[in-house]
Amino acid sequence: MKNYINMSKKELIEEKEKVMHEYQKFKSLGLKLDMSRGKPSKEQVNLSMDMLDVINSKSDCISQDGIDCRNYGILEGLREIRKLFSDMMGVNEDDIIIGGNSSLNMMFDVISCFMTHEISGEKPWLKQEKIKFLCPSPGYDRHFAICEYFGMELIPIKMNSDGPDMNKVENLVENDITVKGIWCVPKYSNPQGIVYSDEVIKRLSSLKPKAKDFRIFWDNAYCVHDLEESVEILNIMDECVKNGNEELPILFSSTSKITFPGAGISALACRGNNMDILKKRFSMQTIGYDKINQLRHIRYLKNLDNLKLHMLKHRNILKPKFELVISKLRKEFEENEIIKWDTPKGGYFVSVYVMNGCAKEVVRLCKEAGVIITNAGATYPYGKDPFDSNIRLAPSYPDIKELDKAMDLFMICVKLAALNKLIESNV
Ligand SMILES: Cc1ncc(COP(=O)(O)O)c(C=O)c1O
Repeated sequence: MKNYINMSKKELIEEKEKVMHEYQKFKSLGLKLDMSRGKPSKEQVNLSMDMLDVINSKSDCISQDGIDCRNYGILEGLREIRKLFSDMMGVNEDDIIIGGNSSLNMMFDVISCFMTHEISGEKPWLKQEKIKFLCPSPGYDRHFAICEYFGMELIPIKMNSDGPDMNKVENLVENDITVKGIWCVPKYSNPQGIVYSDEVIKRLSSLKPKAKDFRIFWDNAYCVHDLEESVEILNIMDECVKNGNEELPILFSSTSKITFPGAGISALACRGNNMDILKKRFSMQTIGYDKINQLRHIRYLKNLDNLKLHMLKHRNILKPKFELVISKLRKEFEENEIIKWDTPKGGYFVSVYVMNGCAKEVVRLCKEAGVIITNAGATYPYGKDPFDSNIRLAPSYPDIKELDKAMDLFMICVKLAALNKLIESNV
């Protein structure tokens, strides 16, 4: 494969003719494929079907502490499921609150709570003139959407290969009182699969925020979702405690991509004032979350070691799909500088960078030929990628044959968009 960057206009036009022909062939196939959201495949959710049999009409439904899980109560969640999450998230059991089936729901709720109720003696965010949130980008669109929903100002922060640009973060957090939070996906970030380095975690945990009500939203959604040997990251809570910053982090995780995204268990961990006001809020909302589901999960998953064995089964399904995506990109574009990509060691996404100004066009071309990929720009605050370059590929959901086809089309679209751009600029 030639490098388009070095081609003459004549060569580019000839190449475009060939690629256009391939594109038209794909279009006539009438494909209907989806590579847009990071959902586990049917095969993956099938892995946990036995969980539905661990509790039935003959079961006692009594927890280790003698709680009848069919009845009201136990706001923080069953002791044994809190223990499992405490092992998974690396925090004390007492610092954990178990929620419903979605950690995103808990994140939304925490922000909603801080909008209306004071933390650390500061006025509720709604009553403060301006609230800014730091958004390491590319990042998770739904994080950004929560902040947008509440009318905050989103500040993009460049992601380096070891986490957010800490010079920028320190500067803003330590000098601007309107900066109230930062989103962090510390392990296998969405979408780049970046793992935060020790240095980044140390610097985050030793921040000296100008705003007393500044918090780190630590979304460890992919903490056990390895595609290779597990990577360990520094424990944010321990580091914060060491620095006298125990109220800085609020940690989140869930079993969405361990058991069932639609019917899993979520958890949040925090300390001090955070815990007091969040518990109060949750206690206004519910007398207790779904304890039968908590019981079902703990009886099925048992403990962290067993959970990790379960994750190996996910890995066996996911890994060939990721390998397919990377190997196809490598084969097609090794010498063609029109695209770059990250090779993740875990998580759910492959993040690619097409030529500046081409991402929207690639997504449009794919859609026109029947393959849906995540909207270009979705990985940036306000859906605006300043370079119109980043695209998030989600290889998990389609089966491997469909993925193969979808990737073939995607690569044709990458070429077509680049050729158009280069021809246009090569006057
Ligand atoms: C970083 C991140 N956090 C949270 C979620 C959603 O988690 P949950 O299903 O627990 O709401 C996702 C889903 O893709 C995610 O990528």
